[in-house]
Amino acid sequence: MNTLGTHMPGVSVLSASRESPMLRFGVLGSGKGSNFRALAEAFQFGTLGAHPVIVLSDVEHAGILNLAREFEIPCHFVAPGSFRTKMSSEAEEEIVRLLREAKVDFVVLAGFMRVIKDPLLQAFPGRILNIHPSLLPAFRGLEAWRQAFEAGVSEAGCTVHLVDAGVDTGAILGQSYVPVLPGDTAESLHARIQVAEHELYPRIVREFAGTIRGKTPSPK
Ligand code: GRF
Repeated sequence: MNTLGTHMPGVSVLSASRESPMLRFGVLGSGKGSNFRALAEAFQFGTLGAHPVIVLSDVEHAGILNLAREFEIPCHFVAPGSFRTKMSSEAEEEIVRLLREAKVDFVVLAGFMRVIKDPLLQAFPGRILNIHPSLLPAFRGLEAWRQAFEAGVSEAGCTVHLVDAGVDTGAILGQSYVPVLPGDTAESLHARIQVAEHELYPRIVREFAGTIRGKTPSPK
């Protein structure tokens, strides 16, 4: 599931967009992009109810940018500036500019490894989603799956939530539970959490698009 080359080459993201008035969203990611792939495939299968129209990354050679090219979705590297955990103001303003130019209705973080600050939060209030590999509010921050494993929980999982000014603190939109199995390692648990993420994120994005559809004005 979700391995390279599984999307249907005959079903073009671009041609589908011409037939559908569905909501538009931008994707921000720093890593391999498996959650973006799940969203793009759901869009291609006609089950997402929203159209990924742009992919942005703070990592020049991130896998998510290659995936975007594979899916024929416009994508850009945005140089993040000199901070390690956030974008420079200039970089975040450039992201806002690109998202506005792409006329997105909302924003999806898919493995974006930097804290989101005001320019972006203010541009899309209540319209930025994130997926986090734990059952929030437990285990905020980095490598949440490892935190959960090392804490000895019997049940881990993943959460889709709205992004606010805190770290993994926004309103929870949906969660999936993943049991910790005998013989698990932190890594094997993480792999099963990712499988759950790939089912949860498209489902919650579809629901979210349904709740904001028709609500005006869109934050542009
Ligand atoms: C996911 O595990 C997600 O929960 C976290 O970052 C990871 C991104 O993975 N926020 P991918 O790039 O979507 O494969």
